[in-house]
Amino acid sequence: MYKCALILAAGKGKRMKSDLPKVLHKVCGKEMVNIVIDTMKKSAINDVNVIIGKGAELVKDATANMEVSYSFQEEQLGTGDAVKSAKEFLKGKKGTVAVFTGDAPLITEASVKSILEFHENGAYEATITTSIIDDPTGYGRIIRNSDNSVKKIVEHKDCSEDELKVKEINAGMYCFNIESLMETLEKLKNDNAQGEYYLTDVVEILESEGKKVGAICVPFEQTLGVNSRVQLSEVGQIMKKRINEFHMENGVTIIDPNNTYIGLDVQIGSDTIIYPGNVLEGNTVIKENCTLYPNSRIDNSTVEKGVVIQSSVILDSHVGENTTVGPYAYIRPESKIGSNARIGDFVEIKKSTIGDNTKVSHLTYIGDAEVGSGCNFGCGTVVVNYDGKVKHKTIIGNNSFIGCNTNLVSPVTVEDNTYIAAGSTITDKVPEGSLAIARARQVVKEGWNKKKGLSK
Ligand code: UD1
Ligand code: MG
Repeated sequence: MYKCALILAAGKGKRMKSDLPKVLHKVCGKEMVNIVIDTMKKSAINDVNVIIGKGAELVKDATANMEVSYSFQEEQLGTGDAVKSAKEFLKGKKGTVAVFTGDAPLITEASVKSILEFHENGAYEATITTSIIDDPTGYGRIIRNSDNSVKKIVEHKDCSEDELKVKEINAGMYCFNIESLMETLEKLKNDNAQGEYYLTDVVEILESEGKKVGAICVPFEQTLGVNSRVQLSEVGQIMKKRINEFHMENGVTIIDPNNTYIGLDVQIGSDTIIYPGNVLEGNTVIKENCTLYPNSRIDNSTVEKGVVIQSSVILDSHVGENTTVGPYAYIRPESKIGSNARIGDFVEIKKSTIGDNTKVSHLTYIGDAEVGSGCNFGCGTVVVNYDGKVKHKTIIGNNSFIGCNTNLVSPVTVEDNTYIAAGSTITDKVPEGSLAIARARQVVKEGWNKKKGLSK
């Protein structure tokens, strides 16, 4: 059967106290609305329509790569009105529409699939999701008929004293038969405590017309919505736990899952060990048998097998097999480090390639350079890549030995098998197999101290 989904994302989220629309706040590194869209797509719902309103342009920009369409809700007149604003999207369609909210990112693919299956197998006109909780304050209550079928949903603010006692709540996720929904939306009224058009009233209308409404229980945790920063962190903690457990089950050792922050799209190979304080973000891939000692941030990077990293930052880069990085290295975007290499303490690499087996062990800056394999950088080498106006390129061949405290003034080429004397400032090509010395020769003035009357 044809399936599509609506994601309600028009609200501003006043309680977030933010310039950003609520659904763009991130949970484990990803915008909440994008998490929900991903879950829909993984559940085989490919036609997704996002209902936007407050901050519409920002939401569109943030979801630009998600292959979704949009409906615009001008004024936030309630969840029923929000769904109504997707009329154009739904028009002429037959099948199931799922309705989810962009601020409840914990719903899982498995749950979405079982809600859809329940709805379609039961041939319901509408399926609602419910949970039973101790404190139902604020939620819509599920009111059932004597035969236990669903009669209606009553919002907290509209509840009678008896209805307030009901502990079964509306979890806020639904499936509808598209045509039934379209017809019923026209019948919604806003004569309630909040003066809103409630999507939940669709249930009572369908029921009174003798149509079948189903209800399926979902784990309460998966329905948690974010209305404030406190809830954002609570939902983040749950998501973090899930992600970390997923990786541990796949054979990754996480020494302290409470203090390890792994983004939703990160992949990690088995037998990798992760110490506390690591933050892995974006589309990072860490392959097998790596060791991440404490306190690194790795964003959008690929780290091959057997790499050891400690207290470093790696952004949009690639690190080859068995290389070691850090402590305190900074690998900036578009860098490619070879295998069996060493990027040591206080080394910064920017937009450069470093060949296999090359050692850059300490206190060195390499920017806009192509460095071959088997090189050794002495302590304190600086690639002088910027002349104040333009960045220039430096090329260093294989098996070169760059002495301590060398400046390589770009653009410059150092060919294979060369030596550069410590303290040199290299401005011209160093030809293959040569030694370059580019510093003043030492002058010794014997007895100078005494002559000046300075000796003690
Ligand atoms: C809603 C349900 C309630 C349920 C609860 C679960 C209704 C009337 N009530 O209440 O039964 O227990 O969710 O969390 O649906 N939105 C729009 N446009 C609007 C109004 C809302 O896009 O005009 C979006 C909001 O941004 C939010 C979602 O819809 O993401 C839910 O709206 P909200 O007003 O928070 O509904 P609740 O009062 O939580
Ligand atoms: Mg709400």
